[in-house]
Amino acid sequence: MTRVYVPRDSAALAVGAEAVAHAFVAAGCEVVRTGSRGLFWLEPLVEVETPEGRRAFGPATPGDVAAILAGGSPLALGDMAAHPWLAAQNRLTFARCGVVDPLVAPAFDALARAREMGPDALIAAVTASGLRGRGGAGFPVGVKWRTVREAAGEHKYVVCNADEGDSGTFADRMLMEGDPFALIEGLAIAAFAVGAGKGFVYSRSEYPHANATFAAAIETARTKGLLGSFDIELRVGAGAYVCGEETALLESLEGRRGQVRAKPPLPAHRGLFGRPTAVNNVLSLATVPWIVLNGGEAYAALGTGRSRGTMPIQLAGNVARPGLYEAPFGLTLREIVEDIGGGAATGRPVRAVQCGGPLGAYFPPALFDTPYDYEAFAARDGLIGHGGIVVFDDTVDMAAQARFALEFCAIESCGKCTPCRIGSTRGVETLDRVRAGVDVAGGLALVEDLCETLKFGSLCALGGFTPYPVMSAIRHFPEDFAFRPDGGGT
Ligand SMILES: Cc1cc2nc3c(=O)[nH]c(=O)nc-3n(C[C@H](O)[C@H](O)[C@H](O)COP(=O)(O)O)c2cc1C
Repeated sequence: MTRVYVPRDSAALAVGAEAVAHAFVAAGCEVVRTGSRGLFWLEPLVEVETPEGRRAFGPATPGDVAAILAGGSPLALGDMAAHPWLAAQNRLTFARCGVVDPLVAPAFDALARAREMGPDALIAAVTASGLRGRGGAGFPVGVKWRTVREAAGEHKYVVCNADEGDSGTFADRMLMEGDPFALIEGLAIAAFAVGAGKGFVYSRSEYPHANATFAAAIETARTKGLLGSFDIELRVGAGAYVCGEETALLESLEGRRGQVRAKPPLPAHRGLFGRPTAVNNVLSLATVPWIVLNGGEAYAALGTGRSRGTMPIQLAGNVARPGLYEAPFGLTLREIVEDIGGGAATGRPVRAVQCGGPLGAYFPPALFDTPYDYEAFAARDGLIGHGGIVVFDDTVDMAAQARFALEFCAIESCGKCTPCRIGSTRGVETLDRVRAGVDVAGGLALVEDLCETLKFGSLCALGGFTPYPVMSAIRHFPEDFAFRPDGGGT
């Protein structure tokens, strides 16, 4: 019986992978469901096992199944490991994603190794790796773990932030669907490092497939005794952007409305239920097993400056080759958008990219030589964030994008602080007047002033970072803010 690998990743399901899987079953094949390899423009991407290894085809429809099995399909992609888009990557965090059956538990070799090392050596290795939090803030993981380990308290927690609200991002979801055991093992290692007995994973209701796969994987880990006395609970939030902010997340986990807490105290000192808590993103945690098995220095050997290791870059929006591209920090934005992404899907010139989610800056082509690393981006008022890159072609109206950033902030604000709650709404009103041609210069000056207040007066980065997309749009695309009677952009 021919074995065929068909992804069950949400991105593949969205373009018909389920029907393709059924067609292979109807043709008498054994179908193994996998995650995605992250080449979304080729989904559903199926692989047929042959004596020479797996051979890929995509994008496949049920009507292609007969030709694929007969070996004469024009969709043939050959050996995926040799595919240029994959071969050029450095997949550490996503090494197994799209390759393995996500629900078959691997041996937890890294957890065993971590236990041999002991918490101190383990934290030292993670610190030496230079791994920084992949959720957005880029805080060193080892330093956070050390703080929680040293915090006073009998009970401690580890919390995985799988809220993934950033626009254009999907890496957490892909990993939970394609390799949930990488996250489970990473979380167990984190718990061992900080001395926590219980872990929570906070996901969102918009991720039904990820939640189902992850819940099944936890159950397998539990029944196989892979976790020892440690236990993991999956919690599913209703999907509020601010619930990804770690203190709002903790409020939500405790059963309250997701509102930001003032810091200090840091969650590392007083987090979930008032106990010391390490909150880490899915990617931060899922990278730890590789670091434990290969050593902190091997991870630190990749990357540039203070941005060490690899980043799972997520290409989305109007881009010819959308998907997940894991590579060491240091590529230029131009290489990512033009060479890897292939430019805009429409074939028109790329005019702007927004990096780092809805709170990230818009970069014009004039800044495309910026190296993709935390410091180089910060120097240009930009954000790496969770690794999302959303591409826009030359039909984009940047004044509308700036308005959208403020409107997003107004809608998603938890309401606790005035600059974010009220300032965002006043910003929308002011930009509406600007776009209608009412005192354009005065309105833009007012928006800039308002952005200063948001930046320095907000309780968290929702209000604090909204100025970046707004001001970058105004600074780099001023022509879109000049009044035009037709109301259009460029
Ligand atoms: C408004 C807002 C939304 C956020 N959303 C997320 C999110 O969806 N996932 C995430 O991991 N971090 C998110 N963060 C960052 C978290 O507050 C926190 O820094 C992170 O979970 C820590 O984990 P890390 O150090 O591994 O990145 C968000 C922050 C803000 C201000």
